[in-house]
Amino acid sequence: MFNGGVRIERIDPLHLDLDAADELAAVVNRANEADGVPFPQVSGPEQLMYLQLQSDGRPVDGLWVARDDDGRVVGRAALQLPLRDNTDVALLRGAVLPEARRQGLGRALVDQAVTLAVEAGRRRMYTSTFLGSPGATALTAMGFTSLGTYDAVRRVELDVESEARWHRLYAEARAHAGDYELVHLVGPTPPDMLDGLVALHEAINDAPLDDPDMEGDVWTVERVQAYDSAMARRRQTVHRVLARHTPSGEWAGMSMLCVDEFSPAVAFQEDTSVVRAHRGRRLGLLMKADMLRWVSRERPEVTATITWNATTNHHMIAVNEKLDATVVARNANFRRDLEQP
Ligand SMILES: CC(C)(COP(=O)(O)OP(=O)(O)OC[C@H]1O[C@@H](n2cnc3c(N)ncnc32)[C@H](O)[C@@H]1OP(=O)(O)O)[C@@H](O)C(=O)NCCC(=O)NCCS
Repeated sequence: MFNGGVRIERIDPLHLDLDAADELAAVVNRANEADGVPFPQVSGPEQLMYLQLQSDGRPVDGLWVARDDDGRVVGRAALQLPLRDNTDVALLRGAVLPEARRQGLGRALVDQAVTLAVEAGRRRMYTSTFLGSPGATALTAMGFTSLGTYDAVRRVELDVESEARWHRLYAEARAHAGDYELVHLVGPTPPDMLDGLVALHEAINDAPLDDPDMEGDVWTVERVQAYDSAMARRRQTVHRVLARHTPSGEWAGMSMLCVDEFSPAVAFQEDTSVVRAHRGRRLGLLMKADMLRWVSRERPEVTATITWNATTNHHMIAVNEKLDATVVARNANFRRDLEQP
């Protein structure tokens, strides 16, 4: 397809090689830089793995690149079509190089994604953009509506001075928590722990959703295994701190941090959840402070962690603020309803 001298082409994510992935990563990095988003650079290998292995183990369902006359990638869009829950939804991420913007490429990429989503029977498309970037205006012009919600992206520095703080907060939470022991797990969940971890993953569903039309995630043993396997194949080392109620032996909480072995300097905080019956005992703070102590000690190459919180998630934000997390960006959520023919 041609759009003002630029060719939009759909590519199979499984056919990507590292050169192509480097080009796709460059679009993300240049877009972030132009929009003042202070994120670490995405590496080619990280990008390749992300597009080929989503958290359910499948590649993204649609991938399009826009190339200029010289064959240079100037824009890209990736579409996910969830299969387990929210099966009427399509999730879009895209970016255009700063110098190629305002020429219709964003719209052409979105049109391709919408066509595929409609063909797949999807009724709603969600995407997001950083507040303060041109994305919000562009998305509105392209038929998306702001949900009025956003995630604040917070960063915690793992420097030598912070270590005393993790220890102090750990001790404070420990004194308050009562009879809980913490268990450390690195990498895929051992078979005998899978059932327990299903409930811990499900506990995140009490967190507020960005849109009431979204369903929570249904977790099963097979889903935990698929997630663990995808992360291992992506070379994301999953660190889990688990809290167990000692008298009953029940699993009470979990916090997860992923270290990307291709670029370990900034680790990504995944879910932290406490099972309802065990809330209000500072287990969230206990697990997160312990994670930072543990990772600082065992993985000195990790210099910071990044965490995304919905602004309505007051309890998690309070924990993160105690950990001295700083807001570095705000990512606003958008939705477009799709008409089925
Ligand atoms: C969002 C983004 C992909 C748009 O790319 P683009 O190639 O500039 O988009 P287009 O040229 O096709 O513009 C699409 C519409 O948005 C409008 N638009 C785009 N940027 C705009 C701006 N800075 N100010 C006002 N309107 C703007 C265009 O006028 C056009 O509307 P129109 O056809 O009614 O005139 C680009 O800004 C970007 O890469 N941003 C960073 C990543 C991001 O936020 N992605 C959004 C999630 S997919």
